[in-house]
Amino acid sequence: MGADNRRTTTFVVIGGLAAVAVAAAVRRATTAPSSSRDPPSSSPSSSSAEGGGGQGQSLAMKLLDRGLVPDWLVRRQIRKLLGQRLAEEDTGDPESQQRRLMDVVDMLRDESAAIAINTDEANEQHYEVPTEFYLRVLGKNLKYSSCYYDDMDVLNAAKNLNDAEERMLALTCERAALADGDRILELGCGWGSLSLWMASRYPNSHITAVSNSRTQKEHIDARAVELGLDNLEVITCDVNVLDFPTTGSDDNDGDDDAGGGGIFDRVVSVEMFEHMRNYQTLLGRIAGWMKPNATLFVHIFSHHRLAYTFEVRDESDWMARYFFTGGIMPSDDLLHYFQRDLRLAEHWHVDGRHYQLTSEAWLANMDAERDALMPVMARAYGPDQAERWWVYWRVFFMSCAELFGYRGGREWIVSHYRFEKVVK
Ligand SMILES: C[S@@+](CC[C@H](N)C(=O)[O-])C[C@H]1O[C@@H](n2cnc3c(N)ncnc32)[C@H](O)[C@@H]1O
Repeated sequence: MGADNRRTTTFVVIGGLAAVAVAAAVRRATTAPSSSRDPPSSSPSSSSAEGGGGQGQSLAMKLLDRGLVPDWLVRRQIRKLLGQRLAEEDTGDPESQQRRLMDVVDMLRDESAAIAINTDEANEQHYEVPTEFYLRVLGKNLKYSSCYYDDMDVLNAAKNLNDAEERMLALTCERAALADGDRILELGCGWGSLSLWMASRYPNSHITAVSNSRTQKEHIDARAVELGLDNLEVITCDVNVLDFPTTGSDDNDGDDDAGGGGIFDRVVSVEMFEHMRNYQTLLGRIAGWMKPNATLFVHIFSHHRLAYTFEVRDESDWMARYFFTGGIMPSDDLLHYFQRDLRLAEHWHVDGRHYQLTSEAWLANMDAERDALMPVMARAYGPDQAERWWVYWRVFFMSCAELFGYRGGREWIVSHYRFEKVVK
């Protein structure tokens, strides 16, 4: 997710020590051997001359790693890179543009491919970072996805984050057409924002929440106990190997489930599809797990017309390597091409500025919690890497804010879809 720091040289040409520092950070981050970035859950990472602020580090680099490059300059460069990304992805003529989109569609239709790739890296990059980081940075529901603001007051984004979380959670349930008593599957549940919300608001429903992160399950299970919820089950499983009954299995809810179909009335997924690389197989499997009249609700971030993958092609692909390995930026219409097993019934847009404010709120919370978070960073990345990763997380949130705020929230947006099962 976020800005694509693809052209390191851009930083250099604008000149100035601080600009060079940003460039150097991107270059260093992308050329450092992967072992220099230990999994967050592991013991303190090995120090390298490059990664640990040792010999050979330029003055410019030291400035950035110590947070001495002003945010306004970092943000200006991010916006410049976003403009470059758009120019690169825009072929300039409709025929080749559509061919490029269809290449992405064909890739996501390749049923011999894995449903998700680089799952270990993605997990390390975000989903096994200590929960304490998210407890201090996200809103009180721990929603790690776009929220929905009722006004676009950037200065009060952090103050309004809890309300914005709840507004999007309520909107999600409404658009997913949930009803009390539904058997619900949530794919990519994060730290349980939606699962816990659904479990408490639909007490007669049974919710199965899935993610591939062990620490997410630990958190949700503990919260469910605190809240006295016994209608929520969290499964830790990579979606590549996830499986549920598919053929008229009786879920003992009094319905007649026979006659083809799985066990779920409603499937919901919020910001997990961006990690997926084989939509055809994934949607086919989900359809198999759904009862005949069931629906699937999907929330993704998207570009309003371009689709592209995050690849580590060269040293400048900082975002792909460190925050979004194996990820994809879907175009808003991408899911329209995947209706073999599910039929698109509804499609909504959410102004990108809602995600801009969400990201600004996370950044503001991070800054406000610096003293408490530095020891968390040290635990996650190693004491000698804490400062550096503090800066990277800040740059990541700034990148997300600039991406979704680009052109007043009309370029990169959030897309919602409701699919119905095609009964064959
Ligand atoms: C951006 S987070 C969104 C979390 C949550 N839906 C929310 O709104 O707060 C993406 C979620 O997808 C999960 N995920 C990503 N790749 C996965 C995979 N291959 N298998 C299972 N879960 C995966 C992550 O662990 C995480 O829970």
